[in-house]
Amino acid sequence: MIAVIGAGTMGSGIALVAATAGHSVLLYDVAPGAAAAGCQRQRADLERLVARGRLSADECSDRLSRMQSVDSLAALAGAELVIEAIVENLDSKVSVLRQVEEVIGPQTILATNTSSLSVTALSSRLRRPGRVVGMHFYNPAPLMPLVEVISGRLTDAAVAQTIFATAQAWGKTPVHCVSSPGFIVNRVARPFYGEALRLLSERAASPETIDAIMRETGGFRMGPFAVMDLIGHDVNFAVTRSVYEAMSQDARYKPSLVQEELVNAGLLGRKSGRGFYDYAKDAPQAGPVDASDGPKPGQITVEGHLGPATALIQLARDAGIRVIERAGADVIRLDSTTLALTDGRTATERMALDGSPIVLFDLALDYAAASRMAIARADQADDAALAQAAGFFQALGKTVSVIDDVPGLVVMRTVAMLANEAADVVHQGVASAVDVDVSMLKGVGYPRGPLAWADAVGAECIAGVIDALARAYGEDRYRNSPLLRRRALSGLPFHRAPGKT
Ligand code: NAI
Repeated sequence: MIAVIGAGTMGSGIALVAATAGHSVLLYDVAPGAAAAGCQRQRADLERLVARGRLSADECSDRLSRMQSVDSLAALAGAELVIEAIVENLDSKVSVLRQVEEVIGPQTILATNTSSLSVTALSSRLRRPGRVVGMHFYNPAPLMPLVEVISGRLTDAAVAQTIFATAQAWGKTPVHCVSSPGFIVNRVARPFYGEALRLLSERAASPETIDAIMRETGGFRMGPFAVMDLIGHDVNFAVTRSVYEAMSQDARYKPSLVQEELVNAGLLGRKSGRGFYDYAKDAPQAGPVDASDGPKPGQITVEGHLGPATALIQLARDAGIRVIERAGADVIRLDSTTLALTDGRTATERMALDGSPIVLFDLALDYAAASRMAIARADQADDAALAQAAGFFQALGKTVSVIDDVPGLVVMRTVAMLANEAADVVHQGVASAVDVDVSMLKGVGYPRGPLAWADAVGAECIAGVIDALARAYGEDRYRNSPLLRRRALSGLPFHRAPGKT
């Protein structure tokens, strides 16, 4: 038998997951009527599925018959697993689990669905710390596949393994992780928001344009500003702040003043009607800023290797552009402009070294599938250089966004920082490379795991981007994970490499 404490959004969803897997589930909540209401909400969701023909009426009543609301903790006495999903407060969680300890047997596992508290801190205040573990579901629990199984310093390995197997048996995708700030997803995802906010604070481009680049070039389902509006800036800012404080104010996780101002202004996103976007019914929608039409080149010269952007050669040929290939500086020469994939240095810096007008372009998840390309020109380059660069990508069928000459552009910079954080998670033994990538794919729906992305682009390239960001900003925020540095030097991939994986 499974017991779930706290019948809010998460608890009632987790109870349904367990009932769907065939367990008898008891649901308890301290607020009178809340447990029954939690069951009722899940019943309504299931009945909607029945009405749409996606679930049989028998299966629906079976699942519901296994869920029962109870109004005292004493009723949980026979549970083999108790999952706590009450308010996110350590003292409250300790207090309720201590009461549970009074009634359960010594073998019962106590799992917490906490999203930010230390499993070690919670377990150490309970009678049998070895039997306390994190079981972190995502919202909505019945639909989201990822479950982070979090071991505190005192958690028995066998207990974590049992919870891992349980989550698997419930049809979920579990990953192992060591209790540390943000666990896997909430830590590795910080740069997705943090770099977008940095780019905005430097006026690289508008939120609409950055979101469009992240979607249409980076392949992310939603742009970071739209996601922050959806999560709510109060919640997103609080998570960032909690990771920042828990990491002893490491500059890598520093909260953004731009976001703090939104919170101060009450512009919390969708729930308040306005954040970066305006959700009022007839509010004008700004949309991304697109470049005007540039000339289509008849011929280009590809010098050296384009690395992750090699697909551009075939795309150019398919667009009827004559391509000459020769040895050289890993760039594309247009009429009087040089195009290059960003390596983290600004176009202005590269032009200062090289002399010829330069325009940089961004990393794409897939250059053939990308419908947009971001470009940035050196301060010294003229309008004609920019127009030629825009015209090249437009000839390939891409919409072009011109952004300011910021180090690393948008996708490359974000992917580099995501991969760097992921590498540090592996380096510090918080989780394996496979589990980190699975977490980002299943927990937040990224189009590619950050470490698989680093493998595809090359760790050397990613580490070089971060070094360039470090030089540009002189901040500790942009520092390479020792493991990323090692992968860059050895040329070994994160996946299937010997040593730390
Ligand atoms: P919620 O506010 O929807 O539900 C919390 C429920 O716990 C309420 O029904 C409340 O009456 C009850 N409760 C509070 N104190 C209690 C006590 N002492 N004993 C029994 N019941 C008590 O909150 P939500 O969103 O379901 O979050 C619950 C936990 O899950 C938190 O730890 C949260 O950090 C975590 N979490 C939340 C996610 C989300 O997206 N909402 C995702 C993953 C984890």
